[in-house]
Amino acid sequence: MKSDSRIFAPYRGLGRFVRPEWAPLTVATVLAVVQTVLALAAPWPLKLAVDHAIGDQPLPPWLSSVGPLSPHAIALLAAGAGIALVALGGVIRYAGTYLSGAASERIGAAMRSAMFEHLLRLSLRFHDRHRSGDLVSRILSDVPRVQDVLVASFQTVIPDVMSLFGMLVVLLAIDVELALAALAVIPLLAVQVMLSRKRIKAAEREVRDRHGGLAAQATEVLRHVRAVQAFAREDEENHRFRTDTAAATHAAVTALAVQARYSPFADLILAAGGGLILVLGVAKVLTGDITVGVLLVILTYLSSLYDPIRSLTRLSSVLAKAGASGERLQEVLAADEMVSDAPSALPAPPGATSLALDRVTFGYHADVPVLRDLSLDIVAGQTLCIVGPTGAGKSTLLSLLLRLYDPIGGVVKMAGRDLRQLTLRSVRSRIAVVPQDAWILDGTIADNIRFGHSTATDDEVRLAGRVALVEEFTSRFPDGYDTVVGESGSRLSGGQRRRIALARAVLRDARVLLLDEPTSGLDAESEAGVMRSLRSAAAGRTVVIVSHRLGLAAVADRVVVMQGG
Ligand SMILES: Nc1ncnc2c1ncn2[C@@H]1O[C@H](COP(=O)(O)OP(=O)(O)O)[C@@H](O)[C@H]1O
Ligand SMILES: [Mg+2]
Repeated sequence: MKSDSRIFAPYRGLGRFVRPEWAPLTVATVLAVVQTVLALAAPWPLKLAVDHAIGDQPLPPWLSSVGPLSPHAIALLAAGAGIALVALGGVIRYAGTYLSGAASERIGAAMRSAMFEHLLRLSLRFHDRHRSGDLVSRILSDVPRVQDVLVASFQTVIPDVMSLFGMLVVLLAIDVELALAALAVIPLLAVQVMLSRKRIKAAEREVRDRHGGLAAQATEVLRHVRAVQAFAREDEENHRFRTDTAAATHAAVTALAVQARYSPFADLILAAGGGLILVLGVAKVLTGDITVGVLLVILTYLSSLYDPIRSLTRLSSVLAKAGASGERLQEVLAADEMVSDAPSALPAPPGATSLALDRVTFGYHADVPVLRDLSLDIVAGQTLCIVGPTGAGKSTLLSLLLRLYDPIGGVVKMAGRDLRQLTLRSVRSRIAVVPQDAWILDGTIADNIRFGHSTATDDEVRLAGRVALVEEFTSRFPDGYDTVVGESGSRLSGGQRRRIALARAVLRDARVLLLDEPTSGLDAESEAGVMRSLRSAAAGRTVVIVSHRLGLAAVADRVVVMQGG
């Protein structure tokens, strides 16, 4: 029934997370097998009582050697044996649940970290296409589903298959005809499993994707709650969320309906099998082929035989369901859009600061080039100002210098070497950037300035703050540099965020400084201040300033005008 390998396809690449936990999982599985053996023994005390205490069958040789036993003693013995089996089973179940549960948690933690690390390494091309809320929901809600099922299948398949075989062997030994009759249900169940598996997985995939979409939508709207309130968009956003939630609910209910039909059908098939055995068994007792005690054992076995069958069928439905989550994890883990180190990559030569573009062509989509055949030399130690209209590709050019993207054609060079032959870390550690949207993380102003140089001392932070005119406003805050800025720096003005980003770049201690519209959004007086500090920050550095305004050209050694790529 489990031979259909496609059930496991969504999990294939996830085995590496289970492997480190093989020891506790193996012990837990062995314990589960022991529990199965105990379950096999469970009905036999009943037979002892029925056939030998109530009935007048002679005691089996291993018991009669103890001596003659009264019916009450036999009943007591049977009861004691039953209790002992349950008590032992309880201890084993506890240990097994603990071991496998703890292993499952560690597997989940490993998967979460691996997803996170992989996402940080994936190229911006990947992130440009995916919504961060959906990616977070993959880490936080899809991981636990897969983690549970990985462990559960381990814990279910082996003991269940073993107990199935164990009981079959015993049943065959007791009565071949009854055993074969009991097996008649299996082909029917297999057909049911195959029919419903695909539908369960498809329905669940839709649910997972819709939940991912909801997470993305909620994250985005809440992050921009200012804009929503400013434009009085609450009703529209509520409506959009409610509509999408309703769609997710509809998908979930559909998935539920498919699943809910699953177990009753399986139970019905199993009940039919049980009925068949009852009829055949009674006939056999009447003809004297078997005793009443044996029929009782067979009927008890039957219900325990059907337990593993039921749990295996249920597992296939759980696997199908979590398979949707498994796919969502694999999509991320298997994504290989990487800007990564070539195997032969070397660190950039020390002190290397000249940069160049050699006939570079680049586009975010292959058919829409943003930069076409662009060549540009950026001389070490000089300040270059690139001026061009909005949309000309200036920010894109800076991304290429940082190797956030690789060009489609041509070469980007540092110190005469193709960036792709240098290690990413060495290239980026030589560059400090002030991006167009000065991203600020929650934390203090000092934390934000230290972002690119986490070991900088307080004095160094303050020095950078003075250069970038941060101190002008921190000196007015009661907490100074320790002021907490809120998510995305929401408690700061745009100009303040920009200056913090500049201070961060100044502190980075990099020989190359890339500045994307460093003075936009500043008043004339602050602009003059920033330009003054830029001049001092530029000393001894290679600086590239891009701007849509010519004003900054004053600080440059050379000015290049960019026009439509
Ligand atoms: N991440 C992106 N994905 C797709 N297209 C982009 C992306 N970033 C920028 N673009 C497009 O590339 C072009 C150049 O953008 P950009 O380099 O930001 O221009 P500039 O900085 O000169 O104003 C624009 O047409 C813009 O729409
Ligand atoms: Mg730009």
